[in-house]
Amino acid sequence: MSALNKIAQTLVSDRRGILAADESIGTMSARLESVGVEPTAENRRVYRELIVTTPRLSESISGVILADETFYQKLNNGRTFPEHLEDIGILAGIKVDTGAKPLAGAPDEKITEGLDGLRERVAEYVRLGATFAKWRAVITIGDGAPSDRAVRANVHALARYAGLCQEGGLVPIVEPEVLMDGTHSLARCQQVTTAVLKSVFEELDLLGVQLDGIVLKPNMVVAGVGSAERPAVDDVARATVEALRETVPASVPGIAFLSGGQHPEVATQHLGAMQKLDPLPWELTYSFGRALVGPALEAWRGDENKWAAGQEALSGRAVANASAR
Ligand code: 13P
Repeated sequence: MSALNKIAQTLVSDRRGILAADESIGTMSARLESVGVEPTAENRRVYRELIVTTPRLSESISGVILADETFYQKLNNGRTFPEHLEDIGILAGIKVDTGAKPLAGAPDEKITEGLDGLRERVAEYVRLGATFAKWRAVITIGDGAPSDRAVRANVHALARYAGLCQEGGLVPIVEPEVLMDGTHSLARCQQVTTAVLKSVFEELDLLGVQLDGIVLKPNMVVAGVGSAERPAVDDVARATVEALRETVPASVPGIAFLSGGQHPEVATQHLGAMQKLDPLPWELTYSFGRALVGPALEAWRGDENKWAAGQEALSGRAVANASAR
């Protein structure tokens, strides 16, 4: 087993999943403000401390994806976040993309940036304790979207990122997110997700990425939030697994879904329904952001007397997702 494969296996096995706590400074600040907390670097740090000090977190969480800012911050006990995660048996990950910007020639679509200087940044994050990384590509469904231009540009960037991570010793989480925004049907989401994943694996192959040393982080196949269609849990599970079976080689150790704005409990139900389908060649797990930490933020709301309530809310979601596996 290569070192990369070992890390990837650790991330997706033993019924555990990955917690995405890597919101950008802008996104994290907006989420804090939405619950009445001043969006300072210290409050972002305190909130992330609440997350990573949740009792028994390592029983259901294998890895935590951190943002660059958090990587350099310390807990009250003086340990850095990556050091603390190692202390409690959780792998530390780092979001290395620098965000999605309008794509030239397709201004309604986005291209994720962050390749410049990535080799050097990977080396620095490894020195600080990272074992895996994340890069999120964003694909929109709409009139004429996604364009071939947007898909090809994004999968190229994903594959270049994945290659640089593996060269430097980090397992890349490869995240092509087909957004839920829009009025599209479940069938349209399945068609686009299948086409995008096919393109991702062609590009990973072209750029020589070692498939047993990645974790794929896709969207579940769901209808658009603005669609009148309300697919049953089993329909979402079936459509998602069909898209994956058509496109994801068996050498990929695991698939860790993003939640994408689904209600936390619904995301868990979808994950559970997929485990009941015929044996699958890869582990299916979670790499949720909002569906894990959203209830914790709501329960805490910056009130130190609600610290334990926030941690209990996170723990509740983490245990429910682990049980769904
Ligand atoms: P959500 O689960 O909130 O979609 O976040 C996952 C993630 O890491 C997005 O990049």
